[in-house]
Amino acid sequence: MWGGRFGDGPGAIMQEINASIDFDKRLYREDIRGSKAHAKMLAAQNIITEADRDAILTGLDQVEKEIEAGQMTFDPALEDIHMHVESRLREIAGAAGARLHTGRSRNDQVATDFRLWTRDASDRMIAAYDALLSVILNQAERYADTVMPGFTHLQTAQPVTLGHHLMAYYEMFARDRSRLQDCRARMNECPLGAAALAGTSFPLDRDMTARELGFDRPMANSLDAVSARDFAMELLSAMSIAAVHLSRLADEIVLWATAPFKFITLSDAFSTGSSIMPQKRNPDAAELVRAKVGRIVGAQNGLMIVMKGLPLAYSKDMQEDKEPVFKAVDDFALCLAAMTGMLEDLRPNATAMAAAAGGGFSTATDLADWLVRVLKMPFRDAHHVTGTIVKIAEDRGVDLSDLSLEDMQGVHEAITADIFTVLSVDASVASRTCFGGTAPDNVRKAVHAARKAHK
Ligand code: ARG
Repeated sequence: MWGGRFGDGPGAIMQEINASIDFDKRLYREDIRGSKAHAKMLAAQNIITEADRDAILTGLDQVEKEIEAGQMTFDPALEDIHMHVESRLREIAGAAGARLHTGRSRNDQVATDFRLWTRDASDRMIAAYDALLSVILNQAERYADTVMPGFTHLQTAQPVTLGHHLMAYYEMFARDRSRLQDCRARMNECPLGAAALAGTSFPLDRDMTARELGFDRPMANSLDAVSARDFAMELLSAMSIAAVHLSRLADEIVLWATAPFKFITLSDAFSTGSSIMPQKRNPDAAELVRAKVGRIVGAQNGLMIVMKGLPLAYSKDMQEDKEPVFKAVDDFALCLAAMTGMLEDLRPNATAMAAAAGGGFSTATDLADWLVRVLKMPFRDAHHVTGTIVKIAEDRGVDLSDLSLEDMQGVHEAITADIFTVLSVDASVASRTCFGGTAPDNVRKAVHAARKAHK
């Protein structure tokens, strides 16, 4: 490859630390795509002949078929996917193949291949979000009236609906999806034509290659084109945030499936049994979604640290950019699929949820709000009066609605029987009609608005 000035080949350790073919063979399609665009442009600019171009294009088709058929032997001596494709092309197409690398370096080549790969990966993940979001909307609509406890500090706070709870995740996941769209838009510029670092003296048509590969434009600065990896860091960052959100829902699924909670039953498809305890139905898929965030954030951290302090332009350090992205994308895609499946199969236990929603004096705020609304009491005073009533119920081990009117009037004489109308969980959720609140009609409206916005 660079035999000209070298007497000996690399030592065995050098070869081992240098070769990237084990992982970058995954870029073969992108590499061939980029090479075809480059060859067409070279011919259009009269830098190579049309006959050479045609020999390169048919040769590259053959290389692609061979790789797909598992016929390519990957050899660490050829370092990476770029050298594998090119050297096989030269065997097939001879001198024409040897002209392909005119005005090009592996530095702009790998940057182009990797951008194409991450762009496709982003598109796949965005499509996976569409599936996940539509499952959430269906389930949120279905369970718009299903009450459950809302928590703060994981202590019963106020009743909410399962539909509302799911729609909270809809909002988070929709932002995660749009973060992926944002990085996709920013990454969509073409490094090809930057050559090694300084650009090239050949009259390349960089607009043509950019267009041919579906990029919005060629990158404006050759040094930046070969040195930038922020597109990969940004994708990993977006996936990290998104994975954190998935893990929060996964954790709730784990919690809800426990015997003390009994809020949901997981489907067989997303549970496992125990080899010793026959009663067990374990939420392994949810646990693994919860755990994968560690690997994804780890990949994000890893690449940031590789890039930190690297001088311009290309350094071999940057070869270490691919594995974290490949692994994180694989993990993340699996998490999205598992979460989509778990939510689709999710069956709530409405009775257990409603019972829990009514516990913990969850409608105490409704009682205080009644005092403010009906008796025109300042909220701080209402808070104090309600606290006294809660204490009585707590001491007797009963719910607020089990107290008598006389008990209430013993705390504040102006209280009337009307107060009991606000103490049920259904009344509580139905009253939360202010925009963004948990009232079932709000949830249905939010679902419809989301469906409309998405179309
Ligand atoms: N395999 C290399 C990488 O992934 C390709 C670029 C090599 N360029 C070079 N000048 N050695 O980064």
